[in-house]
Amino acid sequence: MSRFVSSTLGVPASGRVPRHVAIIMDGNGRWAKKRFMPRVAGHTRGVETVREMVRACLERGIGYLTLFAFSSENWRRPEEEVTLLMQLFVKALRHEVVKLDRNGVRLKVVGDLSRFDSGLRDMIAAAEEKTAGNDRLILTICANYGGRWDILQAANRLAQAEPEKAGQWQESDLAPYLSMHYAPEPDLFIRTGGEERVSNFLLWQLAYAEFYFTQTLWPEFNDEALDKAIASFQQRERRFGRTSEQLVADPHPPVSASCKADAKHSDLDA
Ligand code: IPE
Ligand code: IPE
Ligand code: MG
Repeated sequence: MSRFVSSTLGVPASGRVPRHVAIIMDGNGRWAKKRFMPRVAGHTRGVETVREMVRACLERGIGYLTLFAFSSENWRRPEEEVTLLMQLFVKALRHEVVKLDRNGVRLKVVGDLSRFDSGLRDMIAAAEEKTAGNDRLILTICANYGGRWDILQAANRLAQAEPEKAGQWQESDLAPYLSMHYAPEPDLFIRTGGEERVSNFLLWQLAYAEFYFTQTLWPEFNDEALDKAIASFQQRERRFGRTSEQLVADPHPPVSASCKADAKHSDLDA
């Protein structure tokens, strides 16, 4: 069972600063096109934004940053672009992990990694292992990730582990098998690039996230843009199904017996 309060089984605490920010980094291709550059130039510039956002989250005390880097549907892109995205991923792992580690960042990569070549899989495993002791910021990269894949793989693993309980599974039975079981649900979901859709990102986990869409293209997203998203988040009333009046009277009702009180980033490999 997760140590974090599920938004559907209980009422999670919500602070002024989002504890978990999840971002669809979109608009790299259009950023490049505007400059008469190849799409790949946009992806290269996008990696710089990733670096800046990791720093910005550390500075703001955000505990979890989750970035959608490659969706299960992005294989449909031209082969050349897919190859370059893989190369960029390898390059970033090679160059950034030492810095991440030095800054107390734990790296997690989630998604169906079986489709990646073994060299890349080994690099991911090594990076996760190297940073496993860090807990200032948990940076999750979603690679070959799809929300439907995630729910299905969890259901399949649960079915294997507890076949005798089939037909009686509860949310709390499935939750530990989801790929981001080690993190609280995202508080703030940001999509750059102007599209207002979820594109098969964290379908289960976004149940009660606050959504924020911006026209800003990912390569141009910066501290100021992040602060605007956080300011918007701070104006939301997170009711989790209750009424405004209930919220004022009792902002943090006791957690139901089915959800344990949450502790800070331990138990990541449970
Ligand atoms: C997001 O930027 C990066 C990935 C999907 C890998 P896009 O490449 O989707 O950029 P646009 O949407 O074409 O501008
Ligand atoms: C979503 O962006 C996936 C990532 C950012 C990795 P896309 O650009 O692939 O999404 P669609 O195709 O416009 O929905
Ligand atoms: Mg796009």
